[in-house]
Amino acid sequence: MEQIKTVGDTNWFVKDRFGLFIHWGLYSLAARHEWVKNREEIPDDEYEKKYFKHFNPDLYNTDIWAQLAKNAGMKYFVITTKHHEGFCLWDSKLTDYKSTNTPIKKDLLKPMVESFRKQDFKVGFYHSLIDWHHPDFIIDSLHSMRNNPQKDQLNKQRNQKKYIEYLHGQVKELLTEFGKVDIMWFDFSYPKTKESPADWIGKDREDWDSQRLLKIIRQYQPQIILNDRLDLNEVEGSWDIKTPEQWQPREMIKFNGVPVVWEACQTFSGSWGYYRDECTWRSVNEILCTLIDCVSKGGNLLLNVGPTARGEFDYRVIDRLDGIGRWMKYHNRSIYGCTQAPQEFTTPENCKLTYNPETKRLYLHILSWPYKSVFLDGDSYINRVEYAQLLNDASEILITKSLESWQNDYGQTKKSLVLNLPIVKPDVEIPVIEIFLKE
Ligand code: GLC
Repeated sequence: MEQIKTVGDTNWFVKDRFGLFIHWGLYSLAARHEWVKNREEIPDDEYEKKYFKHFNPDLYNTDIWAQLAKNAGMKYFVITTKHHEGFCLWDSKLTDYKSTNTPIKKDLLKPMVESFRKQDFKVGFYHSLIDWHHPDFIIDSLHSMRNNPQKDQLNKQRNQKKYIEYLHGQVKELLTEFGKVDIMWFDFSYPKTKESPADWIGKDREDWDSQRLLKIIRQYQPQIILNDRLDLNEVEGSWDIKTPEQWQPREMIKFNGVPVVWEACQTFSGSWGYYRDECTWRSVNEILCTLIDCVSKGGNLLLNVGPTARGEFDYRVIDRLDGIGRWMKYHNRSIYGCTQAPQEFTTPENCKLTYNPETKRLYLHILSWPYKSVFLDGDSYINRVEYAQLLNDASEILITKSLESWQNDYGQTKKSLVLNLPIVKPDVEIPVIEIFLKE
């Protein structure tokens, strides 16, 4: 299915398919969600005293991060340069609220970009439009001071226009001081709508001057991929990718009926930032199913990690990344360069299909191992399948034909090809059959 053409360069993106999201900031010290300032309505001075003054990630080693991501089969990364709390990971000239002024005293972004680039990663910057620290950011319904009785009074002294200058200035820094940036990932707009509560104070394109911001971005990095959260949804060319978060689309995402480039961003557990006491960690199998699901619908997966305040990946992350990597080592051919299979190939029970349009191979991911056989129904399979093998060891899968008119042992009534599988499931998390098609 032909996807919409984008202004940014998405050629590499729709091939690479698998990226690492990193949420890292002062909130990793609280270790109870990156929205902790908002959820607990922590005043600025207290947040500063506790977290800004104690931020000292002494074990931070970006070569290790990049290596872990590489081993897991990831190809690009997106790092929170600033999250909603307002704290900056780089040495911005426009604020003091940055890592160089904390006990670690270092620009934390530069070395990260370098390490990942060394491992051939594409570089993406997440940047929060929202800022619960900046003194000119108008206090709205999502602000950590939303319940402050002096809110209206305080807002009189605030000037969102000044905040816009700050926001644009910082984006300019990010796009001019770090070499080529491949993705710009803004988060997020929450305009007042018909459904909003009557007293809702939101933020929309006016509050960021999104149109001007868009110009700045395309001016400094014309090839950059831009996500869709500037509240310019209907403006042509204002976004390149759609970004479902914490849910999986049922089919390839469309805009005005046309398929678009998309990327689901998902967490290992419920939180983006490091959350010590979270126990709902997804298994390797669940994550792999999510990745396969994305590619089978023509999308990407951006999988999130929230490093600790000492600068390490949590042991549960390392365990999952290791398992993902073990699978990817043998199966990345069913992910890289792949997309949704042509409609004429029906998907068998308990399976997911991906397809590489260049090599003309289908990849059948068997999510639950069946007895003996998988049925490929329909003429397209019958006419076009040339050969099949297990992807992990390139061992042949014998194919037999079963015809409509032929009531066989399988109770089969449809015209199908039968893939004759080994009884014992191969020793891999999700077995994949590589199916070679004739021209
Ligand atoms: C949300 C949250 C945020 C997270 C982001 C990732 O919008 O505000 O904490 O960074 O989603 O997509």
